[in-house]
Amino acid sequence: MVVAQRWYQEAVVYCVDASSFQDSDGDGCGDLPGLISRLDYLSRLGVSCLWLNPIHPSPWRDDGYDVSDYYNVHPRLGSLGDFVELTRQARERGIRVVIDLVVNHTSDQHPWFQDARRCADSPYRDWYVWSAKEPADRRQGIVFPGEQKETWTFDERARAWYFHRFYDFQPDLNWANPDVRREISKVMGFWLQLGVSGFRVDAAPFVLEQVSADVDPGPLDFSILDSWRQETQWQLGDAVLMCEANVDPSSVGQYVASRSDGPADRSHLLFDFVLNPRMWLALARQDSEPMIEALGNPVVLPEGGEWATFLRNHDELDLSRLTDEQRRDVFHAFAPRPQMQLYGRGVRRRLAPMLGGDRRRMELAYALQFSMPGTPVVRYGEEIGMGETLTLPGRDAIRTPMQWDDTRNAGFSDAEPEQLIRPVPRTGRYGASKVNVRAQQRDPDSFLRWFENLCHVLREAPEIGTGHCTVIQTPLPRAVLAHRMDAPAGSILLLHNLGPDSAVVDIGPQKGCTSAPYDLLVDGPYDQPTRQLRGLELHGYGYRWIRLRRADRL
Ligand code: BGC
Repeated sequence: MVVAQRWYQEAVVYCVDASSFQDSDGDGCGDLPGLISRLDYLSRLGVSCLWLNPIHPSPWRDDGYDVSDYYNVHPRLGSLGDFVELTRQARERGIRVVIDLVVNHTSDQHPWFQDARRCADSPYRDWYVWSAKEPADRRQGIVFPGEQKETWTFDERARAWYFHRFYDFQPDLNWANPDVRREISKVMGFWLQLGVSGFRVDAAPFVLEQVSADVDPGPLDFSILDSWRQETQWQLGDAVLMCEANVDPSSVGQYVASRSDGPADRSHLLFDFVLNPRMWLALARQDSEPMIEALGNPVVLPEGGEWATFLRNHDELDLSRLTDEQRRDVFHAFAPRPQMQLYGRGVRRRLAPMLGGDRRRMELAYALQFSMPGTPVVRYGEEIGMGETLTLPGRDAIRTPMQWDDTRNAGFSDAEPEQLIRPVPRTGRYGASKVNVRAQQRDPDSFLRWFENLCHVLREAPEIGTGHCTVIQTPLPRAVLAHRMDAPAGSILLLHNLGPDSAVVDIGPQKGCTSAPYDLLVDGPYDQPTRQLRGLELHGYGYRWIRLRRADRL
């Protein structure tokens, strides 16, 4: 089967929060001109797609996930002109831009909601979900336990209860209303015209759920996703939908295709919430078993659908799909103190400190992520090994400004430190005086340089994005995961040692190994592999990507 070229299957996606990346005007908040000034850095890093966390006007009570105007840019971040300039300059460097589409809810400050609450015959009343009576289930279905008390709140002005899946300042839009659908289609068309290559669909399952007070929700309404796909594709042939759907593995396929035996005709990319906690469990136990289980019984996405893999994102690391015992092991290894944990299910830390700042383990973790079927998504600052600030509340701990250098505000901003959107950690093991871009740019052995190489090697290994994954069944030490990826472009054998002890593994001759195999990515010097693939050495926490075959012509 010849796989069509799809850009998103060979991309490296970099998630950036513009407000925390680079401030260009000294107001203490990052902005789009600042981000533009860092595009050369991102280009050298080797990322090919930026996913921007929300950039719209917003009271910013949930880091911009509470939008008050879908047709503009938050004034602190810049203007629509700056946005177009960003997409133009990014495109010149071969980088696409995808933005967050946060349409499960608006901010309660959105003029639509302000009008809707004004009176029962407001034209916007039915854009939201109301109940005249107090819903008996109003304390159910909470997403942020401890921070959120209910999902229905009484609005004094409206004299009615409104539904909010998330915080009370985020009223849910009523997706059963065709006017809402038409308006959000316009929003999407607007941003496509301004140069985006697609959308990260925030909270997708909640957009599709049909909520009414005290009524069991019916089936999810996938026609919403169907129409988004048709409309975006019609307007821009290669635009993508990247869905956030943290749901049971048995139902993820529906977010990608309308028919279980059909091609992807809904979203193109789906965040891999199935694999993510498994990778962390494997790293915590130093045991390949959880990965073998996940890769051996994969949730197969319909043709054209792709996983977006990640280790950390802008939210807590969600371990709710693990058993209590598994979750305990991950907490024990990576978030032993209560203040490192969140909502009883997650971890509010960045990767480097979770792995004790151990360079070998950091490399191993990212090599492992990048070797997984799918498209890797990386959060800003991961490439230099930034840490978290646990004194900040909730998820803010992992949302501190990018650390560019060791000056007062880490090169993020010229403002007074107390004016910064969030404090820059200066001291300590992960503070900007130790961990910053400039120092790592000067050092050929830095983590940043290693990360750049990783991104570039992945670009030379298209079989990982487009290929078929097989776990190698040969008996191996428990800590070692061996899998291969095969595509028309070639075949790669991937070995990862999750444990501290070195190992020597016999893989044995592999089908399709046509020429002399050679190492593509390694953690240190090894003897070149032979065609027998026996006696392959692996250092503790070591990894080897071995090319078995490369097609001369496709
Ligand atoms: C985003 C969160 C946000 C929530 C509400 C999530 O899925 O990732 O950061 O708080 O949606 O919009």
